[in-house]
Amino acid sequence: MSAIPAPILAIETSCDETSAAVMDGSGRLVAHAVYSQVAEHAAYGGVVPELASRRHSEILPELVDRVLANAAGAGAEPRSAVVTRGPGLVGSLLVGVQYARAWAWGRAVPVHGVHHVAGHLHAILLEDPEWECPYLSLVVSGGHTQLVAVERPGAYRVLDRTRDDAAGEAFDKAAKLLGLGYPGGPAVARAAGEAGDERERLVSGVMTHAPGFSFSGLKTALRKAVGSEPVPEERIRILAASFQDAVVDALARKVERALLESRPARFVVTGGVASNESLRARLRAICLARGVRFAVPRPSYCTDNAAMIAAAAFAGASSPLRVGETADPAMELPGATP
Ligand code: KG4
Ligand code: ZN
Repeated sequence: MSAIPAPILAIETSCDETSAAVMDGSGRLVAHAVYSQVAEHAAYGGVVPELASRRHSEILPELVDRVLANAAGAGAEPRSAVVTRGPGLVGSLLVGVQYARAWAWGRAVPVHGVHHVAGHLHAILLEDPEWECPYLSLVVSGGHTQLVAVERPGAYRVLDRTRDDAAGEAFDKAAKLLGLGYPGGPAVARAAGEAGDERERLVSGVMTHAPGFSFSGLKTALRKAVGSEPVPEERIRILAASFQDAVVDALARKVERALLESRPARFVVTGGVASNESLRARLRAICLARGVRFAVPRPSYCTDNAAMIAAAAFAGASSPLRVGETADPAMELPGATP
């Protein structure tokens, strides 16, 4: 990890969002654009890696030019580039990394890489630049479900992580089973919001006391409940609410236990699934009851974006991309894993 000169141009292309941002020398976000490919992947019911990387390469140059023009209007001309190096889809990551590298080399400025989850972990700085380490964080997204102790930017301890599906992936699969479309998280949340108080018991086998998150049992329980006959709309809503409650409950119990064990003063929930109102409310209540300061970035900073990559780099969580270093789709978060 090392300091990077600001203003910073940040690029994020790890999955299906093409995004660029510029952060100025005082850590202020001066330009930001996110192009979501969601509509293009919806027809396939999930992200198609080849399609994603092709769209990134088509969209990124124009998107970066637009962000740079906006930054120039605010008097900020980047003196470095930072890019999500991994983890993610290899083709998608490569587009961002090679673009950032070429852009920086053409201008003889440094280029750094950032771990995608470090971006999510430091997104809270976009809301509160004074937010201090250490803190406990739950990262819940389409690709990650992790409880992380953030000691300082660039130094993390993964306390617990998913053994199979990530929480967002579970929402996406549940939506598919319920015929609610893609992306699944917002669709399940919407249907759950329209359900009354009735719930069905979905036995998940999620264990609070054993390490590891697992949502595959819950998915199987939902598949069994749906069965092979058409399900009336009212029951779809009840099943969506039952599924959401079960995921929120599993995550909340894990967080409660981690708060008891590691007694942090601060807690952040982040990642795409942190947009879920029911999850936010439950975690906020848990923290309040224990005197732990609770924070969550706004939904647009929870889902993938380049502003969080800029924030992580500005905080010091980036490393220089050396000659020959490129995308790392299986990159590990710096620190120990359980
Ligand atoms: O962080 P993100 O944009 O991408 C990854 O890094 O994976 O997270 C996307 C995930 C998707 O699985 C989506 O279904 C989920 O976040 N998501 C939600 C909600 N909004 C997005 N899940 C539950 N409730 C939501 N409101
Ligand atoms: Zn993400």
